[in-house]
Amino acid sequence: MASSADLENLPGVGPATAEKLIENGYDNFQGIAVASPAELSNTADVGESTAHDIIQAARDAADIGGFETGSQVLERRERIGKLKWLVPEVDEMLDGGVETQSITEVYGEFGAGKSQVTHQLAVNVQLPPEQGGLGGSAIFIDSEDTFRPERIEEMLHGLDDEAIQAAMEDREIEGAPGDDAAMDELLESFLDEIHVAKAFNSNHQILLAEKAQEIASEKEDSECPVRLVCVDSLTAHFRAEYVGRGELANRQQKLNKHLHDLDRVGNLYNAAVVVTNQVQSNPDAFFGDPTKPIGGNILGHKSTFRMYLRKSKADKRIVKLVDAPNLPDGEAVMRVTGNGLEPE
Ligand code: GTP
Ligand code: MG
Repeated sequence: MASSADLENLPGVGPATAEKLIENGYDNFQGIAVASPAELSNTADVGESTAHDIIQAARDAADIGGFETGSQVLERRERIGKLKWLVPEVDEMLDGGVETQSITEVYGEFGAGKSQVTHQLAVNVQLPPEQGGLGGSAIFIDSEDTFRPERIEEMLHGLDDEAIQAAMEDREIEGAPGDDAAMDELLESFLDEIHVAKAFNSNHQILLAEKAQEIASEKEDSECPVRLVCVDSLTAHFRAEYVGRGELANRQQKLNKHLHDLDRVGNLYNAAVVVTNQVQSNPDAFFGDPTKPIGGNILGHKSTFRMYLRKSKADKRIVKLVDAPNLPDGEAVMRVTGNGLEPE
């Protein structure tokens, strides 16, 4: 975050303009660097050409990130981990699970189970690798007030005894699965490794993604490094705030910046990034074919894995892999039960 004094180093920015910028969420160079001149000119009350100069200077000042060598890229890619849903059919379709250093978009209509997936992954990621996890912690950016610790408890209790036992050993908790005191202790340790923040609006959500990078950096060399970043929902605030045709470009630009930040956390700290996106399922509706959602395409090429969830009978859900690098499209069935995600 830049101070008012930092911003005053930008050309044409005095104390009053700096204040206006900060009030409107432009409190860092990166944010200003990706703004449009028209947008900035409106919020900061400056002419468009001044806004243009401010943006140019902010681009120079922003830490855009550097280059890596081919060997560094290779070394990084060798560390990619796979996080299991612990639904065999789905994990097979994903060739082992959700990848770290990638963004996975889970989309579908209301009630499809997107939030259930994020909860389940926040549990699974904490299991040791031989149990399908990544022995890490989770960051949960919650824009719809959807996070429920009670649901984490149910999902933890819903795990196989073998997984629970392994987690207990991993955390040096004495006792056995089913032993109330040990289960309570395990639950507490799991909840402690899910870092939840509510996003109040899209700007706040963008800031939280930056904050996520700080947490990931702090925990990088700890026993429980961040291996999962969930954003549930990625798009809700952006949709609500940027309405109308004229706002589409702005929305796109903001979302791109946000996804870029998330991508960066995933790459730098070897974490899986899982974002949810609500879409309309009625094929006749304005949004068209749900497997190619117009609303959803705001994510463009950035979400490297795309998974479509569809409601089926009762607790059944169809999970479709729509787009993935080096993997064929596929379809799997799971159930959402009291225990969490389960095979059909
Ligand atoms: P939106 O956020 O509205 O777009 O929906 P979503 O895709 O996030 O849906 P969510 O993950 O909240 O899934 C809701 C569905 O999961 C419900 O309709 C239930 O069928 C199921 N579900 C949610 N919580 C529980 C629970 O505690 N127990 C059981 N058995 N099922 C649950
Ligand atoms: Mg939800």
